[in-house]
Amino acid sequence: NNNIVVAIDGYSSCGKSTLAKALAKELHFIYVDSGAMYRAVTLYFLRHKIDLENHAQIAEALHNIHLNFHTQNHKTFITLNEEDVSDEIRQMHVAEKVSSVAAIKEVRVAMVRQQQRLGRSKNIIMDGRDIGTVVFPDAQVKLFMTADPKIRAERRYKELLPTNPTITLEEVFDNLAHRDYQDTTREESPLTRAEDAIILDNTDLSQDEQLMFAISHIE
Ligand code: C5P
Repeated sequence: NNNIVVAIDGYSSCGKSTLAKALAKELHFIYVDSGAMYRAVTLYFLRHKIDLENHAQIAEALHNIHLNFHTQNHKTFITLNEEDVSDEIRQMHVAEKVSSVAAIKEVRVAMVRQQQRLGRSKNIIMDGRDIGTVVFPDAQVKLFMTADPKIRAERRYKELLPTNPTITLEEVFDNLAHRDYQDTTREESPLTRAEDAIILDNTDLSQDEQLMFAISHIE
């Protein structure tokens, strides 16, 4: 088992996935977006009106959820029971609920199991909130990303605007703040920096500078 794992954790909208994708391309590793998995589960729960207090319902739902990643023309897609949900999971109705769903123990157990399976046989880069602490505590490289909350909200706002013309910067800022609060204070594997993770604050860094920083540590 000599495969390499690069774990990237951090707050919401810190550019984790942007850096992870660039690294994956550079190193020829597989990129896995663990947040997309929690988002897809949330979408399923919303569609099927799953009661977040009802453990039997949650267990049955998890049993019926099948997630897969596909790559086409260098783009990664996530499917929920064979349906491509890559775009829908980025919408605000999912963002508003995902941190509550991700706080449920059964959900985390099921996702972590799948994530560990993905990392068993290949060199991977995975980003999320608990990758360096819980999913791959032995990862060879761990990065913890952070950035000024205002900058993060502006970046995410620009990303969402084309498909959500009515969205406001304030709404995005509040959603990020709320998710960060829920993610860092939850009982089950809260977001926290692994002791051996390198901090990367990218408030004033370009994407190339972040890539160079990460590569220098990986080497
Ligand atoms: O990374 P992204 O912002 O898409 O993740 C959405 C949400 O999924 C996070 O706010 C967090 O609540 C949850 N998540 C998690 N653990 C992970 C990845 C994401 O709890 N490893």
